[in-house]
Amino acid sequence: MSTVLLTGASRGIGAEFVRQYAADGWRVHALARDPGNARGLAEVCRVSGDRVRVHAVDVTDHAAIDALATDLAGTPIDVLLNVAGVLVANPFGQSDYERWMNSIRVNVFGPMKVSEAFVDHVTASEQRKIVTLTSVLGSIGGNEAGGMYDYRSTKAAVNAVMKSMSVDLAGRRIIAVPIHPGWVRTDMGGSRAEVDVATSVTGLRAVIAGLTIAQSGRFLTFQGAELPW
Ligand SMILES: NC(=O)c1ccc[n+]([C@@H]2O[C@H](COP(=O)([O-])OP(=O)(O)OC[C@H]3O[C@@H](n4cnc5c(N)ncnc54)[C@H](OP(=O)(O)O)[C@@H]3O)[C@@H](O)[C@H]2O)c1
Repeated sequence: MSTVLLTGASRGIGAEFVRQYAADGWRVHALARDPGNARGLAEVCRVSGDRVRVHAVDVTDHAAIDALATDLAGTPIDVLLNVAGVLVANPFGQSDYERWMNSIRVNVFGPMKVSEAFVDHVTASEQRKIVTLTSVLGSIGGNEAGGMYDYRSTKAAVNAVMKSMSVDLAGRRIIAVPIHPGWVRTDMGGSRAEVDVATSVTGLRAVIAGLTIAQSGRFLTFQGAELPW
């Protein structure tokens, strides 16, 4: 039985990952900062039984991440999935630097810290994959609309993080990729988004399942296409 550990499991894309992986027979470690308020996650847990273990972890709380990694020492993690993210879309001239710093803590330091804390668990697994949900809005080459300084910069930064990880962890035969989930109908994506959450996660899971070491360090979409950095 394969094991996935993911952040941002309370709602949106993360909760759907929990639902689909559990339904597929995977063991799931679902991290949410406030599981008591995660109604979607509670329902998934109810139907999934003991395949899903929920852990209360805020991705900005590095001590809590380290404590969980110690708690799960010896547990191989096939897929480490960084899903938690925040979107602040400040236009030029209206930067809120405190909020921007929080976005950096969640969107950049979060995936980095979780990956550092759990790299031995991933190394001990069969599949050895570290995946971070990024955004096409983090593509510098693809930026023609401007704006969104906060969100774009954090996703461009986490893309750089994942690229370096792909190089540094190749010796452990770990595949590390940033993947864009599409424009998805969640609280973040809004009701006018193009893709429903089930379709996005079905595509993401297929891409993750098919990842090869040759794809490590590529910037991919939920349909397996490659994006410009
Ligand atoms: N939806 C889209 O169109 C789209 C497009 C491109 C990329 N993405 C990326 O895909 C990922 C998931 O997006 P989504 O649409 O599912 O977003 P969402 O519905 O807004 O959910 C965001 C998730 O991140 C969690 N989170 C935020 N701050 C956190 C923290 N400090 N510690 C732990 N968890 C935290 C939230 O937990 P709480 O419930 O506790 O707030 C929630 O589970 C994000 O990284 C996002 O940038 C989404």
